[in-house]
Amino acid sequence: MDKIVNLSKRRGFVFPSSEIYGGLGSCWDYGPLGVELKRNVKEAWWRDTVTTRPDVVGLDCSIMMHPEVWVASGHVTNFSDPMVDCKKCKARFRADHIEHAQCPEKPSKRPGECAGELTEARQFNLMFRTQMGPVEDSSAQVYLRPETAQGIFVNFINVVNSSRQRPPFGIAQQGKSFRNEITPGNFLFRTREFEQMELEFFVKPGTDDAWFQYWLARRMAWYTDLGINPARLRLREHASDELAHYAKGCSDVEYEFPIGWQELEGIANRTDFDLKAHTEHSGKNLSFFDEGSKERYVPYVIEPSAGADRSTLAFLVDAYDEDEADGEQRVVLRLHPSLAPIKVAVFPLMRKGGLPEKSHEVVDMLRPYCAVTYDQAGAIGRRYRRQDEIGTPLCVTIDYQTLDDATVTLRDRDSMEQERLPIDGLLGAILPRIAPPTAGHSLRPDGA
Ligand code: GAP
Repeated sequence: MDKIVNLSKRRGFVFPSSEIYGGLGSCWDYGPLGVELKRNVKEAWWRDTVTTRPDVVGLDCSIMMHPEVWVASGHVTNFSDPMVDCKKCKARFRADHIEHAQCPEKPSKRPGECAGELTEARQFNLMFRTQMGPVEDSSAQVYLRPETAQGIFVNFINVVNSSRQRPPFGIAQQGKSFRNEITPGNFLFRTREFEQMELEFFVKPGTDDAWFQYWLARRMAWYTDLGINPARLRLREHASDELAHYAKGCSDVEYEFPIGWQELEGIANRTDFDLKAHTEHSGKNLSFFDEGSKERYVPYVIEPSAGADRSTLAFLVDAYDEDEADGEQRVVLRLHPSLAPIKVAVFPLMRKGGLPEKSHEVVDMLRPYCAVTYDQAGAIGRRYRRQDEIGTPLCVTIDYQTLDDATVTLRDRDSMEQERLPIDGLLGAILPRIAPPTAGHSLRPDGA
């Protein structure tokens, strides 16, 4: 993980937040390359979950919602973790994670096994509270959403009434969520402000188990289609005592990070819990009337809920590789080309003789179609290394032969092979190699 953190800082993927003021605990800023990588991860999810499907639509809800939403959802009463304090050093720990925690003063010991004594565990609600408007009374108290899902549930009827969607169908949302985690850490893995990519898929009760299996397969395929090593990915079914209060079943997609196997995404069968809870608290009927069968029912919900930052971290970790090139060690990010922040780097072999000008022509030709960069600094081998380290899948070199016959070399990041091809065939050669994977083909349970 240290190698990833160092590379991220050095090459502009991720910086510590507010660094010139000493940083702010577990808050991170995405730099010029990181912001592109994360946007590509989110775009890959949106494309696979929304734009390539006829049965899913998107939504973008406000972060602050009516406070009653969080009473209905159970977050006000249930969204808490057990917390203990060290009476000596005053550090706080999650009581259920104590066996993996370190004493801040004696890192070789666990909290409580050092000189300090731990308090009794007490429940700590993870929602951030703030005041809306200028008057600080409790009526203006609102929460920063701890998940994007509730915005989808409270808009269920709006979407049904305004679109042609009928169950089985889904509503997807990406956006910031906030949790006052007791022990954030491990770089982007657990932070207090993070982005989620959530789908709530509404189905007729009785068809929910089949749809749950469908989404398990579909979500696993998303990660592997984007190049995640299948040996480092697994599904872990929750034991019944682990299930959230709303869930009939849940499996986590786990990835083997350098810190061990950890959750990347949760896929839950939330039953009709949320729509019923909001019906009860709002007084608005959130059931669905099927015109065809003349049946009224409250749909069950299958929820694949992923983290954009956690996925970005997994793609970075999984892509990181070290090998040898031209007798030197090289660091290479073997990112799926569709995720790579920069797709093509263009180099003039020399900084003279009309080669930079020709290179800029090629850059201008490619720029409307893909993220392209120009680099003329240093030996060509070093320029390749710089691009390998940030995951750029293709490099184009312009040399003196280019001026004679309008051909260039195209070099592949992974095989390091080079081919010579005409400039007017360049775009046609590049675009298929940076295209997103075609959507997975798990069979829908309804055969549609
Ligand atoms: N609506 C269901 C829900 O929010 P969750 O398992 O609590 O479920 C879903 O969160 C995903 O959001 C996680 O699998 C993870 O990827 C991401 N996530 C949750 N808490 C996070 C945190 N503190 N930092 C970064 N990502 C987080």
